[in-house]
Amino acid sequence: MHNDQAAGLRAMQSSQTSAPVSEESAPKKTSGRPPKPVRVLAVASGKGGVGKTNVSVNLSVSLAQLGNRVLLMDADMGLANVDIMLGLQTKYNLAHVLDGEKTLREVMVDAPGGIKVIPAASGVKRMAQLSTAENAGIINAFSEIDGFLDILVIDTAAGIADSVVSFCRASQDVIVVVNDEPASMTDAYALIKVLSKEYNLTKFKLLANMVRTEKHGLMLYDKFSKVCEQFLDVYIDYLGTVPFDHDLREAIQRQTPVTIAKPNSESAKAFRKIAAEINNWPIPTGITGYLQFFVERLFQSQNS
Ligand SMILES: Nc1ncnc2c1ncn2[C@@H]1O[C@H](COP(=O)(O)OP(=O)(O)O)[C@@H](O)[C@H]1O
Ligand SMILES: [Mg+2]
Repeated sequence: MHNDQAAGLRAMQSSQTSAPVSEESAPKKTSGRPPKPVRVLAVASGKGGVGKTNVSVNLSVSLAQLGNRVLLMDADMGLANVDIMLGLQTKYNLAHVLDGEKTLREVMVDAPGGIKVIPAASGVKRMAQLSTAENAGIINAFSEIDGFLDILVIDTAAGIADSVVSFCRASQDVIVVVNDEPASMTDAYALIKVLSKEYNLTKFKLLANMVRTEKHGLMLYDKFSKVCEQFLDVYIDYLGTVPFDHDLREAIQRQTPVTIAKPNSESAKAFRKIAAEINNWPIPTGITGYLQFFVERLFQSQNS
């Protein structure tokens, strides 16, 4: 992204803070206070099927229960299923925003648990490869919702697709989900390797999913973080463990997040514990805390 464009975005940001916005669909804004910085969390994994979408959905719901205004973006263009897990019927998605047909607010849908969802668009190219018009469209789209949001959670695709890289490097925190299958660990390692060596990302949060106990999750973290920290220039923090839980599978059948369908289940308790931890992280400060920064990063070309 050109510097002048970035400066323009920041100017837009400061002029936006005082602009009244009264759309009904907008999340409530606390009156009299300047917009709070937005925390952007990417949920990634390397391998598919390890539980990224469940983690994204249930952490979003749990973070909303703690009083945050949460927007969940389904960025898995290939195998979009946030809408299925939440039982949503969606008509529009990010592609309509890119085409300029809809605003971001028009494609955002209300989901159970009080969260908002941006449904996935299939076949969307790497963000850095979008045309100038598409860029402008999405930048405007995001600046429109700045100040109405506390947390943006991004459910990314499996693997090391361009879009996964774009979203991870634009986020403040990358949550890497693993389970105890060897392929899940090697694929997560490969993802972290690319993000660290080619894009200078150095901090990751590990979430162990579908394991027997928290102790087992901690062992997995120990093993994984040691290997990463030995061979790569990275720090891996332990975020938490979500146990294997039949209640979670039943909730999926009911198309309701387990944190809503079975709030007393072991997995729901684990999601709430992790959300409480995230809620205690320091509030992002400076330009990194604003959506414009996120969007700027999203459009930066490959190795910048
Ligand atoms: N904690 C868990 N306990 C039991 N099964 C789980 C758990 N997390 C995920 N699963 C199972 O794994 C499947 C894939 O989960 P999903 O969130 O769609 O993964 P991903 O988004 O990484 O592909 C789910 O359909 C569910 O059957
Ligand atoms: Mg998924």
